[in-house]
Amino acid sequence: MAEHPAYPVGLRLAGRRVVVLGGGQVAQRRLPALVAAGADIRLVSPEATPSVEAMADAGEITWEQRPYAEGDLADAWYALIATSDTAANDAASAEGERHRVWCVRSDDADRATAWTPATGHSEGVTVAVLTTEARHRDPRHTAAIRDAVVEGLRDGTLVAPHRRTRTPGVALVGGGPGDPDLITVRGRRLLAEADVVIADRLGPRDLLAELPPHVEVIDAAKIPYGRFMAQEAINNALIEHARQGKAVVRLKGGDPFVFGRGMEEAQALAEAGITCTVVPGISSTISVPGAAGIPVTHRGVAHEFTVVSGHVAPDDERSLVDWPSLAKLTGTLVILMGVDKIGKIAGTLIAHGKSPDTPVALVQEGTTAAQRRVDATLATVAEVAVAEEVRPPAVIVVGEVVAVGPHGTA
Ligand SMILES: C[S@@+](CC[C@H](N)C(=O)[O-])C[C@H]1O[C@@H](n2cnc3c(N)ncnc32)[C@H](O)[C@@H]1O
Repeated sequence: MAEHPAYPVGLRLAGRRVVVLGGGQVAQRRLPALVAAGADIRLVSPEATPSVEAMADAGEITWEQRPYAEGDLADAWYALIATSDTAANDAASAEGERHRVWCVRSDDADRATAWTPATGHSEGVTVAVLTTEARHRDPRHTAAIRDAVVEGLRDGTLVAPHRRTRTPGVALVGGGPGDPDLITVRGRRLLAEADVVIADRLGPRDLLAELPPHVEVIDAAKIPYGRFMAQEAINNALIEHARQGKAVVRLKGGDPFVFGRGMEEAQALAEAGITCTVVPGISSTISVPGAAGIPVTHRGVAHEFTVVSGHVAPDDERSLVDWPSLAKLTGTLVILMGVDKIGKIAGTLIAHGKSPDTPVALVQEGTTAAQRRVDATLATVAEVAVAEEVRPPAVIVVGEVVAVGPHGTA
């Protein structure tokens, strides 16, 4: 058997009995895909890992808490033999052979009648990689090939044209805080498929350099707005390009709906009858403090965090932020767009009861090569920000969480 290549096939297991022998790490790794396939899974094992046990508790599998016994495979379509007892595995293999049940064996691929491929998924396709012959089995190599194919399809370095026509329209893509690795897989794929990308100044600008030359990249800040507001001009540009049947990506920093005007764009597109897909992004509100070693919550320190915009000062009548109430909260305060107004903000928080000693950190250009963190207190932050020449974009964190990490000053 080992001389012949394995024959690849996709099993449709929904509602069909699959028997899993052994509830250890192998079962834990394989069970989620069997559950996803809708199989009727019976686990036979005296013990199980906590994750496998949780699947039984959740009703995803049926667990018979005992060792393998002759007859267990009788009504199975497929079996995973993964106990730590070789004799039991051999007996189960022999039973599988008699009942013509395809059996995977974790301890002896040569004696298995089926092999599990290294699998990955991309856009409705399962990529499954199998070694051709038993003597060439190298699971790391098959996994590496799987990763290369799936990653390539996801990030667009491997292009597989499909007959399905691309949906024209606009994707509002949250690009994450700046590090090009922190965009979502979906965002990156849509970017790779785009004809036009309208990008903000913030976000993963390095990704734009990777786009093929035919992709038109437009800097949102440079769209001329004449008699329109800048945002209207951006909306119009999105609509115009989409109407030409192009796949348009509106690449935004962080998450599109966190101080990102994402919904204004989505509304304008809806009014124009244009399909709009929203792809969430990693917001700087949490990720930038995190990248600088600051957790926005920490057990015993902060049970809440509040995100506010500091783009207008507390005494400005346009401000919608209730600063006096914020001063009374005990949790973490995360301020975006607040570098210029930090003096007034700190003064207001202190005036309404926040301790002047409350730790503050300013994290500039978080997650990028230029990231820097400047620490202060509410009493000193205005002065420190000027002295240290902190510039936007920066996330300002106010609260005891600033002092808990290894970079903290406490
Ligand atoms: C218009 S808001 C957009 C926020 C974005 N939608 C998000 O979810 O992160 C811009 C502000 O986000 C913060 N910001 C975004 N990216 C940042 C980064 N990499 N480092 C520091 N602050 C950042 C700054 O406060 C900046 O002024």
